[in-house]
Amino acid sequence: MAVQRTLVLLKPDAVQRGLVGTILTRFEQKGLKLVAMKLRHFPASTFEKHYEPHKAKPFYPGLVKYMSSSPVVALALEGVDAIEVVRGMMGATNSRKAAPGTIRGDLGMSFSNNLVHGSDSPESAASELANFFGDAGEVCNWTPVSTPWIYNVAEELA
Ligand code: RTP
Ligand code: MG
Repeated sequence: MAVQRTLVLLKPDAVQRGLVGTILTRFEQKGLKLVAMKLRHFPASTFEKHYEPHKAKPFYPGLVKYMSSSPVVALALEGVDAIEVVRGMMGATNSRKAAPGTIRGDLGMSFSNNLVHGSDSPESAASELANFFGDAGEVCNWTPVSTPWIYNVAEELA
């Protein structure tokens, strides 16, 4: 159990379909803490870096083009085991196969246009957060008043 930060992207399809509020609400209601957020039409270079681990895959050029085709919302979320928690909430990569109750399972029908990205390891979270929120002061350190009601502080945050 560790407090982690993870990078979440609400992809072009989420923004174009007006699902930013719906998806953000799910993360807020879960108890994940929002520590950074921005809407930008990011350049291709941002996603070339972000998807560097997929560089050799056939879908890489189309993926970079798609992600830079329209505005995206970048979030940094914090919580105990936040990386795994967010990945579970997203569901399987193919939205048609994602379980009901997950973001992709409830809101999507596509493999490629799958609404949301979440970091998949502490190492990728660190580099992805630096890519999207690398400037000083972009990530807020704060304590929501709800924290002692979301967690058993002595057991889970000590
Ligand atoms: P993400 O990185 O976006 O959080 O999604 P993921 O871990 O579930 O999936 P990943 O394997 O990392 O793939 C990254 C994104 O590339 C697109 N993709 N398209 N057409 C294809 O075969 C294919 N494979 C992957 C998806 O948008 C996927 O989320
Ligand atoms: Mg991935």
